[in-house]
Amino acid sequence: MLRIYPKQVSLKDWTKVTLWPMEPRDEARLHEFFCRIPEEDRKLLKEDVAHRAVVANWCRQIDYNRVIPILAEAGGKIVADATLHRRKFGWLQHVGEIRIVVDPEYRRKGLGSLLIEDLMLLAIDSKLERLFAELIASEIAAVRAFERAGFERMAHLPGFARDQNNAPQDLLLLTADISTANQPETCFY
Ligand SMILES: CC(C)(COP(=O)(O)OP(=O)(O)OC[C@H]1O[C@@H](n2cnc3c(N)ncnc32)[C@H](O)[C@@H]1OP(=O)(O)O)[C@@H](O)C(=O)NCCC(=O)NCCS
Repeated sequence: MLRIYPKQVSLKDWTKVTLWPMEPRDEARLHEFFCRIPEEDRKLLKEDVAHRAVVANWCRQIDYNRVIPILAEAGGKIVADATLHRRKFGWLQHVGEIRIVVDPEYRRKGLGSLLIEDLMLLAIDSKLERLFAELIASEIAAVRAFERAGFERMAHLPGFARDQNNAPQDLLLLTADISTANQPETCFY
């Protein structure tokens, strides 16, 4: 299904955005993108993306069977990064995780929803059955964006995460069941 990329989409304000799977040559621009993300948002991400070495490592170890990173570009710069993570072995190999971050200038235009939807389709195409996202409960935008895409709140872990000031924050686990999307439609004659 990655063959559908690169593709152009229009946001709610008609901004044209191009989506494509990350390639090694995207390293410098992807690092620039993460440096534009406000620190309070960066601190909510699972990896320290402000470090060039972290991004360089991703770009050197691209393996679409393990992580599918979809990038979005508008006005000549990368404006979003959305990733679908999966395991090749073990008891979670039918489960995928979605992570996403959008440039603050491009938020509330539908880009986050478009990317979540694309990753859900890629997950279905990869025969995954469940998806999850781990979010800080106070991140209303992220929680709503995933709920709008059909994710449901499965667990609320009080004080489980830490924010940039090392203060405890509630962690929310949202999941989506995509198992039926792979089944051929039942036909009644
Ligand atoms: C979460 C995030 C990806 C959403 O991206 P986005 O492009 O703004 O998402 P959308 O425009 O598709 O918004 C989808 C819905 O989310 C909700 N939403 C988005 N931003 C919101 C905000 N600031 N306040 C309240 N609801 C919000 C709305 O319901 C919105 O739909 P609507 O605009 O039609 O009402 C973006 O805010 C972000 O990058 N946050 C920082 C990183 C993060 O927390 N990532 C999640 C961890 S995996």
